[in-house]
Amino acid sequence: MNLFDVYPINEITISKAKGSYVWDDKGEQYLDLYGGHAVISIGHTHPHWVKRIEDQLEKIAFYSNSIRIPLQVELAEKLGKVSGKTDYQLFLCNSGAEANENALKLASFHTGRKLVIAFSKSFHGRTSLAVSATDNKNYIAPVNETDNVIFLPFNDEDALEACFEENGKQIGSVIIEGIQGVGGINVADDSFLRKIRSLCDTHGAVYIADSVQCGYGRSGKFFSHDFAGVNADIYTMAKGMGNGFPVAGIIVAPHIKPKHFQLGTTFGGNHLACAAALAVLEIIEEEKLMGNAVMVGKYLRDHLATIPQLKNVRGRGLMIGFDVPEHLKDLKKNLLWNQKVFTGEAKPNVIRLLPSLALKKRDAEQFIDSIKEEIQLLESPEN
Ligand SMILES: Cc1ncc(COP(=O)(O)O)c(C=O)c1O
Repeated sequence: MNLFDVYPINEITISKAKGSYVWDDKGEQYLDLYGGHAVISIGHTHPHWVKRIEDQLEKIAFYSNSIRIPLQVELAEKLGKVSGKTDYQLFLCNSGAEANENALKLASFHTGRKLVIAFSKSFHGRTSLAVSATDNKNYIAPVNETDNVIFLPFNDEDALEACFEENGKQIGSVIIEGIQGVGGINVADDSFLRKIRSLCDTHGAVYIADSVQCGYGRSGKFFSHDFAGVNADIYTMAKGMGNGFPVAGIIVAPHIKPKHFQLGTTFGGNHLACAAALAVLEIIEEEKLMGNAVMVGKYLRDHLATIPQLKNVRGRGLMIGFDVPEHLKDLKKNLLWNQKVFTGEAKPNVIRLLPSLALKKRDAEQFIDSIKEEIQLLESPEN
């Protein structure tokens, strides 16, 4: 049997990882500023995370949601404490798309309405409603086509207001990434998020904060939406939550009440996933990783901004993007093959940095040297 070939891949086989480094099967070391797509939050193979999963594996790995799982309660309490959303309710699932699917569905159950507002360049996942709210026609199969999603320009308060004026009582939810990831690192304006909050309040709609990529401390706050100083009704989370162990969830404001069987999943919230997620929160707290994300993120942005060829350096914490001019379009590839640095990309010609929140300043310094060297090589007359 062959693999179903849907992923364009780099010809590298990673066989070992530690902190912000990975090694291939030939022993070559790489600096990981991509984090396997914003997934590695506390660093690869963190010893506390490994031990907690190992210990749990010896006891019980899985049982269904038909019995009490005290680890879920422990996780909910810890998540409430670290995120500051102590009075929210946690529902656990398995992936970012599933988190958004559940959030959109729950909002519709709650309001009894069908319409969803999403924004240009959004990415919310590949399941049916999540992908319908994703602004990329290539991912939307005919079966996912729906009139229930209205796309508006990102950060356009007037368009949002006009849409609510026209459709007010039919809009069930507004879904927005605090910082768009796949869309190219676009930060939602604080005033735009406040406008979403106030229009949702006025018209009885649910504000869904997609924090799958920009959440879990990556921005320097637990949820990047928190910079706006208002709460969402539902936050979705996934990538950094398990540091690579598949676990995701939504947290739901207290005014939205649960009903039996409205949501559900076989694997979500299993013992092993909870152990991994608890280990992540314990390390984020103990090692003050949000503070580190602020500090190292600022260092990176400040130094990238001094490189004249790189335009529009943007982002928050350790979620950073910048535009690369056409003549340097091979920069990402050359960083990987010549400098042994993994970075992320977004089309066209955007480089994304999504490293572990434990990235050390000396690694950031090394990256700045590497990128300067590669730019120089690409601009040299031999090229
Ligand atoms: C903002 C956002 N939402 C949802 C998803 C989907 O997550 P998953 O791939 O875990 O389904 C992603 C994945 O990149 C994402 O960046």
